[in-house]
Parts: sequence; structure tokens; C-alpha cells
Amino acid sequence: MVQIFSGDIAHVVADPFTHGDALQIIENGAFAVDEQGTILALDKRDRVTRRYPDAVETRFDGWVLPGMIDGHIHFPQTFATAAHGTHLLDWLERSVFPAEAAYADEDFARSAAETFVDQLLRSGTTTALVFGSQFPGATRALFQVAAEKGLRIISGLTLMDQGAPDALLHTVPQAEKLSRTLIEEVEKEPKLHYALTPRFALSCTAEMMTLCGELARAYDGLYIQTHINENGEEIEATAAAFPEAANYLDVYDRFGLLGSRTVLAHNIHTCDAQLKRLGETGTAVCHCPASNFYLGSGIFSLKRHRHHGVPVLVGTDIGAGTNFGVLEELGSVYKAQQMQRLSLNAAQLLYLGTLAGAEALQMADRIGNFAVGKQADFVVIDTAEDPGLRLRLGFCHNPEDALFTQLNLVRPHHVRATAVAGRLHQPRGHGAV
Ligand code: GUN
Ligand code: ZN
Repeated sequence: MVQIFSGDIAHVVADPFTHGDALQIIENGAFAVDEQGTILALDKRDRVTRRYPDAVETRFDGWVLPGMIDGHIHFPQTFATAAHGTHLLDWLERSVFPAEAAYADEDFARSAAETFVDQLLRSGTTTALVFGSQFPGATRALFQVAAEKGLRIISGLTLMDQGAPDALLHTVPQAEKLSRTLIEEVEKEPKLHYALTPRFALSCTAEMMTLCGELARAYDGLYIQTHINENGEEIEATAAAFPEAANYLDVYDRFGLLGSRTVLAHNIHTCDAQLKRLGETGTAVCHCPASNFYLGSGIFSLKRHRHHGVPVLVGTDIGAGTNFGVLEELGSVYKAQQMQRLSLNAAQLLYLGTLAGAEALQMADRIGNFAVGKQADFVVIDTAEDPGLRLRLGFCHNPEDALFTQLNLVRPHHVRATAVAGRLHQPRGHGAV
């Protein structure tokens, strides 16, 4: 059975930082989707309905955008948001490690996974690169719930062998055994992918990072995720722990952890040598502005990353971040770049939340926009029940202007539906029009 989804469609078909015409808006548009969730056609609604007269149509009164892609979020911090702490290291110790320890309980972890996946879908996210729990049962529950509810995730066991309470640590042989088991389980599910997840240099010995490099070489298609250059004290402590490394990035480079399937969160306090090496190796960096504001970490320079050709995607970094969805995070992206005199437009914001994420995660052949042949992952924004926002949008000059305003003002309660591969999630029980 072919399905048609219709509404006001917006997506980017190229990189809008280099292509002025990358934003495509189709008012009263539609796309047709086959049973596998693959997009068959994208056009004005009347043309698509004429071409597929027997299709079942779901019509939305609002914007239909590609599903958002979250490049950095922590599953075991679902219930650690807005916890007090001074800066990164103090916050980790006082608020985060105790919260993460609760995931040892498998019943709790299963219900946390349901909450986490539901929250992502409700916020308009359809793909997420997720720091899993240190506890294999909890990380397995996350993969299972994501598969059941249809969310695309890349995740893996958070690996630490020092610098945290014992309950959160693994020995290197344990880490190897647990990682191999989970990698082999995950490989069987098409929407699930595994990421080796050494937390950051300070929580991993050289042996743990060597293991990550070896596993990355042993299995095809694995991702690697970790943190870098977030906070001054963290950077100083890392330099002291790895005196042989030229800089923070070089710590990871020496263990073979850089490349086009690696995502490093933050990279705020960086330098040209590190940016150059990121560009050379195709390593992506995830910008998480709400987290950076919350922890007082600093302000990420999109301009400098782009100048060195570093792929950049956007993440919420729950629990340091305070937005569960990338859709809402885009308003913080805008403000963080405004502080540095870079005024992003609607196309650039939308790109950062969608196609840029797909490109950075090597998934642009499947997701990121509504090109024919890709999967129908989308989010529907409906402001019908927000008269104030409706009035505000009435003052917009054209659809692009309205899209820009919405990308700054959208909140999760405006998300009417989310779909992954054409499978609809309608969180608040709305029927489509
Ligand atoms: N660096 C190491 N661990 C973390 C974490 O959990 N959150 C953030 N924001 N930075 C980190
Ligand atoms: Zn993080």
C-alpha cells in the first residue's frame, strides 16, 4: 500500500552555506511512500495524489520537515537534566555519576528507555547518536525499545575504567567481552548501529582506548563517540594525564579513534592544528549549545569548523542540555552563533538539524531530506493550538521567513507527529486532518 503525507513541506537539498538555493519549500505539497518507508515521489499535493490515486493520504495542517538528527545525547542522564553543579567535572561527580548508577536496575532501565525514546520521538527526533549506559542490560533495553518504537539509534556501552565510582567502571577485558556481545546483537537490526563510547580521555586509560581502536578496526561500520575540549579544567587535566600527546585531539588520534565515523562532542576550546586534523580525518564535531550555556563551558565556533571542512552536526547533550529535541535546540544554535556575529538563516538552521547530521553520520543516502529513494523520516509542526504563535506568523513576509521564526520558537508541544520510515507516531493522540 502506498501512503501519501501532505502539508507545507520544507527541506534542504544541498549545503546552504555553499548553495544559496538549497532550501526547497513546497506549500501544499506531498510525498508518496511505499511499504518499506521509501519516498516514491515529492511534489505539489495535487500531482502526487493524481499519480497515486489508490494511496491512503494523511493530510497535515502545518509544516512537514525532515526528522531531526541528534548527534549527542546521554540515555542514562534522562533524569539528570537541570541538576546543579558548578562546571563540568564537579557536575559530573555530584549530579551525573549518581544518576547513571541508577541504571544498574534493569526494570528501572527498561522504563527509562521507554521514556527516553518516547521523549525523542515527541520532540521531533528520528535519529540519535546516544551515549548508552555503563550497564549492558540498560543499553540492551535502549536498543530493544528503539527497535520496537522505530527510532533510529546509534549507541553503545559507555566505557570508563577510571575516575568514577566503581559501579560505573569496567575492566578492559570486561569492556571487550560486553562490547563484542552487544555489537553482534545490534548488527542484526537495520535501524540500529553500534558506537564505541569511551566517555572521554579522563575516564579511560590508554589500555581502554587501545581496545576501542582495536574493536573499531575489527568490525565494519562501527561508530566512535566521545567528548573533547569542553572545559578548561578538563583540558588541563587531560594534558597532564597524556603528556606525550600534542593536544587533546592527539590523545584520540594516537589510539586510532579519528575518522569519518567518529563524532566528538563540543570542541569549544580548540586550535587551528586540531581543526585541521579533524578536517583531514573527516571526524565530525557535535555542537550542543544549550549544554554549553548550562555548564558555562563556552561558545562553539561554527565558522572555524566550517573553514577547516569539519563536518558539524547538532546535539542536545541531555542531561547537561536542557532541550530534549534538536528542533528546540536550533534556537540555541542560532543564539550561540549570533554571539559571534554569524546570523544563520532558515536554510542553514534546518540543514544543521537534518541533512548535516545525516552527512556527518554517513547516512545521507537514507535520511536527511525528502529526496526520492530516501526513507520518509519526518516531523510535523502544527501551531493551530497556539494562537499567539499563529498571530506572530501572520506577520511573516513569506514562507521562508515563517520557517525561520518557527525554527526559533518551536517547542515540543507544537510537534503533532513524527514518523520514521513512514511509520507515524502521534504522541498526543491527534488524528490527522
Ligand atoms: N564529558 C565527559 N562526560 C560528559 C558528560 O556526561 N556530559 C558532558 N557534557 N560532558 C562530558
Ligand atoms: Zn555529552
